[in-house]
Amino acid sequence: MRPLLLTHCGAGSDESVQDAADAAGARGMALLKRGRSALDAVVEAIVLLEDDPRLNAGTGSRMRVDGRIQMDAALMGGDLEAGAVAAIEAVKNPIRVARDVFDTPHVLLIGPDAVAFARSKGHDPYDPATPESRRRLEESLAAIRNGRLPRYARKWKLVELRDTVGAVARDRRGRFAAGSSTGGTSFMLPGRVGDSPILGAGLYAGPKGAVSVTGIGEEILKRVLSKFVYDRIADGLTSQRAADRGLALFPKDVPIGVIALDRRGWGESCNRSMAWFVSERRRTL
Ligand code: GLY
Repeated sequence: MRPLLLTHCGAGSDESVQDAADAAGARGMALLKRGRSALDAVVEAIVLLEDDPRLNAGTGSRMRVDGRIQMDAALMGGDLEAGAVAAIEAVKNPIRVARDVFDTPHVLLIGPDAVAFARSKGHDPYDPATPESRRRLEESLAAIRNGRLPRYARKWKLVELRDTVGAVARDRRGRFAAGSSTGGTSFMLPGRVGDSPILGAGLYAGPKGAVSVTGIGEEILKRVLSKFVYDRIADGLTSQRAADRGLALFPKDVPIGVIALDRRGWGESCNRSMAWFVSERRRTL
């Protein structure tokens, strides 16, 4: 089967980071063309996105209101195997830790125990903070001090968003994989977990295809968005129509983006600008 891969830099990202979506896509595609698995391609594409300090995942992740960075990442294959970490701190590549969880009997490790697991697998201590992530925290704290919060903080909706990175892939053997990684969103309490590490919410893969989404995690969790889109693909819709149906579940003031693929093709849908890549064509909305 013809390999296929999509990446995204998050709902709200724009042309200024298109090069990141392209570079991650090129890395993933190079692996697929050499016969590597969809899972490997997704991991390596996301590592590149996590390492880009302009994006909200890995290095450059957003800070919690207490100044800490807690990250979420997950990986799922078309055979329903999966690995994920939530609220993990002080690692460079959460998606690589998720890949290590994938090889255990478990699906999701959280917080300090996820960090301890990462150390046991050789992930060295690393500070993902950047001057930009500190600046964004100061902005959030100033907004809190000035009481400019009402809908923002209550429902996390009108947030100026540069959300999450993700990838989906199909390899030569027709296997699918999906992945996502994030530093979360604005105004996060310590311990908050969004959609990105939750199977069915932030990502889903199965024998029919793969889906990865971006946007306000709380809203995505409530609608189990990725499984919704996957089920539409399994029902026979194209990935594009399934992604559009998923997007239609949300009011327009909730930023949401979807990438998806199946045996026949791919789909992308977002109600904000989003830098994204597809190996067959690329475009910034
Ligand atoms: N979509 C990422 C998050 O809300 O944490």
